[in-house]
Amino acid sequence: MTIIEAQREVAKILKEGGVENAMNEARFLLQDALGYDSVQLVTGYRDYACTSCVETAFDWAKRRAAGEPMQYILGHTDFMGLDIRVASGVLIPRPETEGLCELLVNEAKAHRGADPASRWPARILDLCTGSGCIAAWAASAFGDAQIVAADLSEEALAIAAENCRAHESHPGQVELLQGDLFGALKGDGPQFDAILSNPPYIPSRTVDGLDAEVKDFEPRLALDGGPEGMDLVSRIIKEAPDWLAPGGLLLMEIDDTQEELVRAACEECGRYASFAVLRDLAGKIRYLKARI
Ligand SMILES: C[S@@+](CC[C@H](N)C(=O)[O-])C[C@H]1O[C@@H](n2cnc3c(N)ncnc32)[C@H](O)[C@@H]1O
Repeated sequence: MTIIEAQREVAKILKEGGVENAMNEARFLLQDALGYDSVQLVTGYRDYACTSCVETAFDWAKRRAAGEPMQYILGHTDFMGLDIRVASGVLIPRPETEGLCELLVNEAKAHRGADPASRWPARILDLCTGSGCIAAWAASAFGDAQIVAADLSEEALAIAAENCRAHESHPGQVELLQGDLFGALKGDGPQFDAILSNPPYIPSRTVDGLDAEVKDFEPRLALDGGPEGMDLVSRIIKEAPDWLAPGGLLLMEIDDTQEELVRAACEECGRYASFAVLRDLAGKIRYLKARI
């Protein structure tokens, strides 16, 4: 069977399973099954595909047709231009979280613009690291920085370790710690210039109504933020100032239903010099930016 014939067969399986963009997804599945890049797939479309590779692509297509997310099937995804390993124990990194990283890039530019000698941020915490996508990106983007990545899930930390080791600027740049939010950290006292966090923030009732592709495959621990989605968000807002260096920044992803609750939590904490609730590229409330 030629590559283009295999692609059409894969697309047929996907279409029968109700997958939109079946031809496009077929391309991704076949590309990985063959071990090709996108150019090789296009230029070699008349070549014969290896039989075992085609069988793998068919097996993957059946899993995809049954609703499993493409990223879990392929075992990796793109995040901020980095190839990030994912598996069923971790949340699949989302484009909205890339927006959180962009906020840190803009802050770093502002610091370095004001003072060319500035190496801000020198120490970064990625709380609720999951796949380690934020920590791995921060390590590759800020070669001078020391990064700490923490999560409650040991399964997630094992994958985070792989991603951080693959992308850090020098060995040991990222320290991985297990525990309940800030309880994972060693020592005491303020130490981070920036804390980034994408905690579980979806209200429990909303999790139950999510698409099967999310609800049935992604870990509930990564999604469910309690009745209003605020269980961890509130704790992070309250406790982050204890861990931020003077002028330090908390950047956190939040739900679009939480603007007032998040503002109230920052007011109640009383330790932030300024804070703002920001929108994502789709225009939805998505981030808290708070400075002590
Ligand atoms: C929304 S996922 C974020 C994963 C990753 N940072 C990302 O942006 O794709 C939330 C993560 O928080 C972790 N988590 C849940 N409860 C926690 C807790 N009490 N303390 C630390 N981490 C927790 C979950 O294991 C999960 O990996």
